[in-house]
Amino acid sequence: EVWNPSGKYRVVSTKSMPGTRWISLLTANDCRLEICTEKKTILSVDDILALIGDRCDGVIGQLTEDWGEVLFSALKRAGGTAFSNMAVGYNNVDVEAANRNGIAVGNTPGVLTETTAELAASLSLAAARRIVEADQFMRAGLYDGWLPHLFVGNLLKGQTVGVIGAGRIGSAYARMMIEGFKMNLIYYDLYQATRLEKFVTAYGQFLKANGEQPVTWKRAATMEDVLREADVISLHPVLDKTTYHLINPERLAIMKKEAILVNASRGPVIDEVALVEHLKVNPMFRVGLDVFEDEPYMKPGLADMKNAVVVPHIASASKWTREGMATLAALNVLGKIKGYPVWGNPNL
Ligand code: DGY
Repeated sequence: EVWNPSGKYRVVSTKSMPGTRWISLLTANDCRLEICTEKKTILSVDDILALIGDRCDGVIGQLTEDWGEVLFSALKRAGGTAFSNMAVGYNNVDVEAANRNGIAVGNTPGVLTETTAELAASLSLAAARRIVEADQFMRAGLYDGWLPHLFVGNLLKGQTVGVIGAGRIGSAYARMMIEGFKMNLIYYDLYQATRLEKFVTAYGQFLKANGEQPVTWKRAATMEDVLREADVISLHPVLDKTTYHLINPERLAIMKKEAILVNASRGPVIDEVALVEHLKVNPMFRVGLDVFEDEPYMKPGLADMKNAVVVPHIASASKWTREGMATLAALNVLGKIKGYPVWGNPNL
């Protein structure tokens, strides 16, 4: 699909993206925009090489694509200088390869913070109250009357929420769980989450002044402290060499038997084979997963686990956010081409 065919700069988007603002931005700024209409979900390196062609100024790509030396050198040869991932995560992008080829890289932080945190909160609730199991039970026509034991789950109020990685998204999630469900906080991060700590302190004081049990917070010295103490644990680290299989058999073993583990970051942060084993032998342990180690696949056995809620990487999937991500990605590419600032990770 081609927009503004006579535009001076050739920009390629490897996928169609929500909204029209990003299209207007590019076409109003002298870009010829080509949107790939290929039906298959995940494009190969060869597919993208064909899209880049002989002349291309910038590309908007997706987290499912492998942006390394081959693509960045091809983009350089085609005269390109700009690439933006339509995602905040950029573990699919070899930033050093981009730098070597003189390609600026952008990502799309900020616009997806609350949406992603809301999905992590949804997964926490769905796991705690066994929503998916109960829904399937209803649809199967199995409900034949109220019972004291039917789908008994966990009450969040007064329990402890554990956050591993208290950056933008982790902190937004923590606030939702603390304010929404009066949970106490334990978090682990290399950096101090000062604003989050201030929020919990102030909220605790507010509760106390109103005659309620105040919420508390603790910055854990080790990740293990969070895993041992928290009732609901949400993972929000960046995926890199240091966070690959952060959740491994040893760490699963120290978690509470009735804990809930949520992951809306990146799949490889959890050793998924070990997780399936853990779910099998600990039926009261529950997980809420938005991401998987080998997307789009799940490791064998996961789909059969009643104590797992699984959704297909939709954490940022609200209309407002996806349109915002598309707009930021377009701005990144346009910025580089036109010499305006590029959004995203300041190191890129
Ligand atoms: C991201 O932005 O990194 C998410 O995984 C997709 O929204």
